[in-house]
Amino acid sequence: MKAIILAGGSGTRLYPITTVLNKHFLPIYNKPMIYYSLSVVMLTGIREVIFVVNPQDLKVYRRLFGDGSQLGMDIRYAVQDKPKGLAHGLLVAEEFAEGNNVCLALGDNIFFGHGLPEILKEARKDVETNGGACVFGYYVHDPERYGIVEFDEEGRVLSLEEKPKKPKSNYAVVGLYFYDSTVFEKARKIKPSDRGELEITSVNEEYLKEGNLRVKLLGRGFAWFDAGTHDSFLEAGEFVATIEKKTGLMIGCIEEIAYRNGWIDREQLRKLAEPLAKTDYGRYLLKLADGK
Ligand code: G1P
Repeated sequence: MKAIILAGGSGTRLYPITTVLNKHFLPIYNKPMIYYSLSVVMLTGIREVIFVVNPQDLKVYRRLFGDGSQLGMDIRYAVQDKPKGLAHGLLVAEEFAEGNNVCLALGDNIFFGHGLPEILKEARKDVETNGGACVFGYYVHDPERYGIVEFDEEGRVLSLEEKPKKPKSNYAVVGLYFYDSTVFEKARKIKPSDRGELEITSVNEEYLKEGNLRVKLLGRGFAWFDAGTHDSFLEAGEFVATIEKKTGLMIGCIEEIAYRNGWIDREQLRKLAEPLAKTDYGRYLLKLADGK
């Protein structure tokens, strides 16, 4: 399975912060926002990743992640000329992922919860074994902001709707999707929505129509943020700071995950940590490299 991380977009809901800056580089407490979605992909065990980015940000992404070899990964980039929707972003990465199952992650989503790596690996295995698509639902108080999934009494999916004015449920579909390789033909088939974008919800509807969509719920023990507005951005940063200070363990630490996955060795971890040694982040990595 390969991963596609959507890291472009216009970020209008974070203006004026993002009038000239791409939101994915903004800090969620002590690391760039984009680290969190990359870490989720890494926790799924996926080493081949493509970032779909805006033309003006390509160089910055390259400086940030290079070719991924420093993390024992293969990282590439594809340029989305205009923000024409998430499903359009997916198509931009088609050449890279064609013929493969894919994990699609939105660059502004942050996940935290016990057992997350196992849940991710199960979703991956589900799609690799059974085909179709696997997505996640999460109970929210403001469903009109998201893609929403409606269930019947037996928990079967009845409908999906993108940002409905009158939501039929409180379950948001989070920005992490596991698809089989037919996702590209489905994305090519769909029509732009009223806001003129190719919506990922329309792609999920194609799977639903086929009877090939599984929705797993992330329960109350999970925290999920879409850091795309001023408030959710701040809340996500505060949440990460609180947990990290309490436990002394990091959320979304890509170097740590690469090391624990066995993709880099102790020496490489130390090499990545040294330039950061003046920060708690760097000291955390050094301690890990020392086996403490
Ligand atoms: C996108 C999707 C939406 C999903 C959300 C999760 O919305 O279109 O279905 O629930 O991400 O973050 P956006 O934030 O791009 O408006």
